[in-house]
Amino acid sequence: MCMVIFAPLFAIFAFATCGGYSGQLRVSVDCVNKTDSNLSININFAYPFRLNQVYFDVPTCEGRSQERLFLVGDFSSSAEFFVTIAVFAFLYSLLATVVYIFFQNTYRENNRGPFIDFIVTVVFSFMWLVSSSAWAKGLSDVKVATDPDEVVLLMSACKVQTNKCGSAYGPIWSGLNTSVVFGYLNFVLWAGNIWFVFKETGWHKGGAARYPSSAPEKQAAPFNQPSYNQGTFDQSGGGFSGTGDLGQSEYSQVGTYTSSGPTSY
Ligand SMILES: *[C@@H]1O[C@H](CO)[C@@H](O)[C@H](O)[C@H]1NC(C)=O
Ligand SMILES: *[C@@H]1O[C@H](CO)[C@@H](O)[C@H](O)[C@H]1NC(C)=O
Repeated sequence: MCMVIFAPLFAIFAFATCGGYSGQLRVSVDCVNKTDSNLSININFAYPFRLNQVYFDVPTCEGRSQERLFLVGDFSSSAEFFVTIAVFAFLYSLLATVVYIFFQNTYRENNRGPFIDFIVTVVFSFMWLVSSSAWAKGLSDVKVATDPDEVVLLMSACKVQTNKCGSAYGPIWSGLNTSVVFGYLNFVLWAGNIWFVFKETGWHKGGAARYPSSAPEKQAAPFNQPSYNQGTFDQSGGGFSGTGDLGQSEYSQVGTYTSSGPTSY
């Protein structure tokens, strides 16, 4: 249930901070012949970071002539991958919330809801890890490509010693750093939720559903049918039910606590 509250919110933070980003840097070219100089050359870029399409005009310091330069690199794939995963995770977690709250019976029918939820949660956890890592790498490359000191190296005027090139300011990165942090937070959130969704499937219980241990769960959340698909998993769970017997009778209190964990998280 912790997913219900945090997952859509965290997903929004992830794609809003990345997809809504726009940055600016400013460099200056101070030519020997001052009339040719431009001391405030602004370069704007934004999501999806196709930097090789971002151009700007700089003086060549040879008369009034200017040259058109482009930034280096295309980091749209990792940025768009990250935002896509975040948007789909947002949509899925919203859908899951609605199903979980309003269609509890359908969710539990034939155990199909928990099963699908488990698979999708595992996939999204993996995708959050992959996309966050890819985007973290992409962001570090974007930082290099938009570093004013690097941009200055592209300008032919700056290769002449007598012209002075400098940077007024670089882009502000806090928004994009936040997006990476939220990417990994989402991974932790979804990966942690695997366990709770796994418990919903009832697989770990084996044939334990016939014991009254399911009663506390009834109180913890308004589950109408906490019926686990015991038939299929009786044999595989047989080995565990022996230890499960001991555990349940001895730790029935603890069991109550942990099963209500996800609700009160
Ligand atoms: C300097 O460059 C900016 C673009 O970054 C341009 O708008 C401005 O007109 C230029 N200034 C001069 C003096 O050429
Ligand atoms: C500086 O540039 C102006 C206009 O482009 C030109 O008239 C002048 O002769 C140049 N001066 C020098 C020292 O190159």
